[in-house]
Amino acid sequence: MTKTERPRIQWLGRWGFVLAATGSAVGLGNVWKFPYMTGEYGGAAFVLVYLVCILSVGVPVMMTEIALGRRGRGSPIDAIRRMASESGRSSAWSLLGWMAMLCGFMILCFYVVVAGWSFAYLWKMLSGGLAGSSVDDMAAIFSANNANPWSLGAWSTVVAVATMVIVGKGVQSGIEKSVSWMMPGMVIMLLIMIGYGAFSGGFGDALRFLFAFNASSLSSEGMLAAMGHAFFTLSLASGAILTYGSYLPREASIGRTTLTVAVADTLVALMAGLAIFPVIFANGMEPGSGPGLIFMSLPLAFQAMPLGTLFGILFFVMLSMAALTSSISMVEATVSWLTDNKGLSRRAASWGTGIVLWVISTLAMLSFNVGAEWTLLGKHFFDWLDFLTSRLMMPLGGLGMALLAGFVLKSETLREELGLSPLIHGLWLFMVRYVSPLGILLIFVDALGWLDI
Ligand code: PHE
Ligand code: NA
Repeated sequence: MTKTERPRIQWLGRWGFVLAATGSAVGLGNVWKFPYMTGEYGGAAFVLVYLVCILSVGVPVMMTEIALGRRGRGSPIDAIRRMASESGRSSAWSLLGWMAMLCGFMILCFYVVVAGWSFAYLWKMLSGGLAGSSVDDMAAIFSANNANPWSLGAWSTVVAVATMVIVGKGVQSGIEKSVSWMMPGMVIMLLIMIGYGAFSGGFGDALRFLFAFNASSLSSEGMLAAMGHAFFTLSLASGAILTYGSYLPREASIGRTTLTVAVADTLVALMAGLAIFPVIFANGMEPGSGPGLIFMSLPLAFQAMPLGTLFGILFFVMLSMAALTSSISMVEATVSWLTDNKGLSRRAASWGTGIVLWVISTLAMLSFNVGAEWTLLGKHFFDWLDFLTSRLMMPLGGLGMALLAGFVLKSETLREELGLSPLIHGLWLFMVRYVSPLGILLIFVDALGWLDI
């Protein structure tokens, strides 16, 4: 068989891939996780390391994954195995695909719980359950929301079912359309909130917190967290982007699409930070309040601003949609592997995966109530899923992808597939060969002391 084209369904329309990949990238990672991690790790230094990682590791690895997917035309496992054998290399490299697929699924198992929070808060906004609450009430409301396994479980079940229904319907019909109105909607909502924040009295503090870099303030743990988050936020090393890339038509430019997705993702994250921290500082809240940060702070702003209830409803609709366009991408690798290799229909593969998802995500959800005591080394199950994926599997997977592309596969193949100008190609190669692997290793080794291994 010639190396040029393997048949596979493809995205509909010119913007299909860009929309879907942006939908995958922009999600709870930007609006929920980025602000609270920035708060926990002390602000600007975290933001700076995160931005450096996006540029030096995220962008080159994303280009690599799209190229691997499009050339290998399959799930991460199949695509990497094909690419390796085409270059006369060991099929053991497909283990990288296995890890990515598992990682995407593990992320999904806790992501549906957080997306459930977003749905629950949408419901609270609609039913007026947040009206008139003080700063302290908001913290209590967040705890109470987590303390009830029935409602928490119901919301994460809603998310799990919605995800599997969309995925079961197929690549083209389910995914692409929603992103084209959801993304601009999200940006408008964030702009409104930034505008409000600019007059709330906390804006200067927020700007300083996010951007006034102070070299001494980031721990090794924070560096690893920032790098892990760069992978997480761009949906890398988790099968999502690689599998979406496997549906990408030959003509599309990998360099340009990568830049579009990375820029959109970064902008939304920074905008979320600018929307949330003014509220935090204006109300004397603690930036390091953890995963509840946006749920405890934003409703305060919605209460105080004109048309706040309307904006609050719109905001949580957007956030829930953004979560769904991300969650569907996390199972795409698994579903595409099952349909390609196990002869299952897309429907059957989705429902089968969905049942496993439901069981594991229910366990993750119980970490906040019934299972709060079920800890190992001080972390409960929800935290372990997050920790193993963001701090271990994604950085290792990214390292593997960079080495695979930089040193293992025939350089001609990737040159052809990426189709970059010689200068940009040279830059990409330099990044995946040296900058990304060394950066990842350095941060890892530096963090080992803290990991206590
Ligand atoms: N990038 C998504 C977000 O920021 C999360 C994600 C991770 C999606 C891994 C797919 C795969 O919310
Ligand atoms: Na993101």
